[in-house]
Amino acid sequence: MTTTKHGPALAGTRVLVVGTGKMGLATARQALAAGADVTLSGRCRDRLAAVPPGVRTVVGDPEDPEGAVRLLEPAGGGPLDHVAVLAGGARPSTARGIAGTPVAVAGEAFARFWLSYHLVRAAAGRLRDGGSVTLLSGSSSRRPSDGRGVWGTLHGAIEALARNAAYELGPLRVNAVSPGGIGVHPANRQLIAHPGQPDDVAAMVIALMANPAVTATVVDVDGGEFLGDPG
Ligand SMILES: NC(=O)c1ccc[n+]([C@@H]2O[C@H](COP(=O)([O-])OP(=O)(O)OC[C@H]3O[C@@H](n4cnc5c(N)ncnc54)[C@H](OP(=O)(O)O)[C@@H]3O)[C@@H](O)[C@H]2O)c1
Repeated sequence: MTTTKHGPALAGTRVLVVGTGKMGLATARQALAAGADVTLSGRCRDRLAAVPPGVRTVVGDPEDPEGAVRLLEPAGGGPLDHVAVLAGGARPSTARGIAGTPVAVAGEAFARFWLSYHLVRAAAGRLRDGGSVTLLSGSSSRRPSDGRGVWGTLHGAIEALARNAAYELGPLRVNAVSPGGIGVHPANRQLIAHPGQPDDVAAMVIALMANPAVTATVVDVDGGEFLGDPG
């Protein structure tokens, strides 16, 4: 019988969290609490000044393929074990949907796909055995709604990247977390039954890093958005 070691699975591992937004900060905090050696990367030195004590910081931009490689190159402590890609990328207005959004603007919105792609590529052969990459997609990939066609397509592309990279790059594990309605304003809470917070996304990212039997998976953290309006 094969057994798998569980318990404090992240203790002593080296974790890189990419992105200084709410989900990135929450993931860095939780990985640190789980005993990992955590580095948080961002483009902006000022934002990095606000990271939790005990988290290392590095300035870098994975939208550039070489920038992605630099972030994943082993530093003093040896190779990384896990990478969480939680950077938002550019957020141009795409409210006019697929047909109404100029192609150049849709291209800008795809920054998050490309930084995810570059980091997955850079992770190949650079992470320790048992390592993982966790990407961030979004519920609009499978739940189209007005004005969200560009974002939904972006999120679907990131989910396809996770599955295909898991197939091609194993034993590296690659997964995605698909958030929806995270941090929604209380006035809009009727839209979903169980609205979540950035910490709820972070908890799923940590679980995917820690579980050696999970790869090529997309996990929804969307408060039950697929159930529709709870009425
Ligand atoms: N809330 C939801 O339910 C939901 C659903 C689906 C998807 N999402 C997506 O989830 C993402 C993360 O959300 P959040 O609330 O944690 O983020 P956030 O607070 O909106 O911040 C996003 C972060 O990404 C960083 N970033 C952007 N481009 C970057 C790059 N090229 N390299 C490194 N960092 C970069 C930004 O930092 P700088 O600009 O300072 O570099 C910023 O710190 C957002 O893009 C959001 O659209 C959210």
